[in-house]
Amino acid sequence: MNRRDFLASTCALALLPRSGFAAGDMLHLRAETVVEQVLPDGASTTAMLGFNGSVPGPELRVRRAERVAVEVDNGLQEGTAVHWHGIRLENMMDGVPMLTQELIQPGARMTYSFVPPDAGTYWYHSHYISHEQVARGMMGALIVEDDVPPDVDHDITVLFADWRIQDDGSLVDEFADMHSVAHDGYMGNFARGFVSKSQVRVGDRVRLRLINAATNRIFPLQISGASGSIVAFDGMALPVPRALSDITLAPAQRADLIVDVQDVVVFDMITRDGLYRLAGVAAEGVNTDRQPTPIVALAAPDLPKPDMPTQHLTLTMMGGAMGGRHGGDNIWAFNNLSDLQPEPFGTFQRGETARVTLVNDTSFPHGIHLHGHHFYEVGADGALGDLRDTTLVEPRTSRDIICVFDNPGKWLLHCHMLSHATGGMRTWVSVT
Ligand code: C2O
Ligand code: CU
Repeated sequence: MNRRDFLASTCALALLPRSGFAAGDMLHLRAETVVEQVLPDGASTTAMLGFNGSVPGPELRVRRAERVAVEVDNGLQEGTAVHWHGIRLENMMDGVPMLTQELIQPGARMTYSFVPPDAGTYWYHSHYISHEQVARGMMGALIVEDDVPPDVDHDITVLFADWRIQDDGSLVDEFADMHSVAHDGYMGNFARGFVSKSQVRVGDRVRLRLINAATNRIFPLQISGASGSIVAFDGMALPVPRALSDITLAPAQRADLIVDVQDVVVFDMITRDGLYRLAGVAAEGVNTDRQPTPIVALAAPDLPKPDMPTQHLTLTMMGGAMGGRHGGDNIWAFNNLSDLQPEPFGTFQRGETARVTLVNDTSFPHGIHLHGHHFYEVGADGALGDLRDTTLVEPRTSRDIICVFDNPGKWLLHCHMLSHATGGMRTWVSVT
């Protein structure tokens, strides 16, 4: 199939819905069952869970440093809660049942209200039995707009996800079978990228906001038809834009790119069997007005500067298939403990800088996510690297992170391969 046929056959199906609202309005998300055409046209539809009638849910666009209120209305037959992934918000708005809030019961509603401090690309998702509710579709993009947007012709979100779908269109509902939990997790047999705009012109300069909303799949991405720079990871502007090459996104990770369009822009997943097409943006017509100018950095986020770390903790990932024994009572563990314990993994004074060594003593990669904060990945040379809220640690390797724990509350720290989280790879920290 050539590029044009591919676009004609799949891309029109994969447009992200966008929420239209005026500033200051209350946003609404209704969690409900939806039927979506996930498989290509002509194939069966799929019963899913979504927000406002769609999977993914609507893209929410909010302003930096302005209070937003989102009313979540639970139209499901089970409880739920919504987490605003990557937003450094007040603890009680973090959306984690048992740790920061009560469940939103069926038929009930809850208003989340927070002031997003950082512009950038974020997302929201269910945080209740999330290995199942997210796998069924409960997620969407959350964009915090820049005070001064970069000079681009289009701002396009590309949200990647995958599903395990049977021929009759139904989702395979063994979301927590032991085998997948102990390996690389519940993994789709069908993956796709949803784009918020399906057409641009050759010569346009475009901002691309890539989001991995899959529950367990790591996406090694190849982007063709455009060249440019990576300008942010996990919402945080890079101090210096980095030349665009292939990008790997672990579950929950994001990357922002600014690119110049040369041809149809295609997003492929790199697999052992070759490229798997996820999404595309058609290029029709030519923009002759745009002058090629250097791509400049986005405004730097206003995060506290790290001091000399006053604590150095180690978090060792354990368990899973082909892993060693551990002391936890679930499949996976951190430091010999599975699941949430009464005592936190770490306790920090508000504003304290700490170093944490993340040791992956298992046979699988893990994407470790800290709530309520961003942290620096420490490079092999010991220098502070990228700011992230989720870091990918390959099997039998370790990575140090440095974090200023400046946000008071109880914050989850877990693997964002959601099958691993439900399999025990979850803990929490306390900032007082
Ligand atoms: Cu994306 Cu604990 O979350
Ligand atoms: Cu994991």
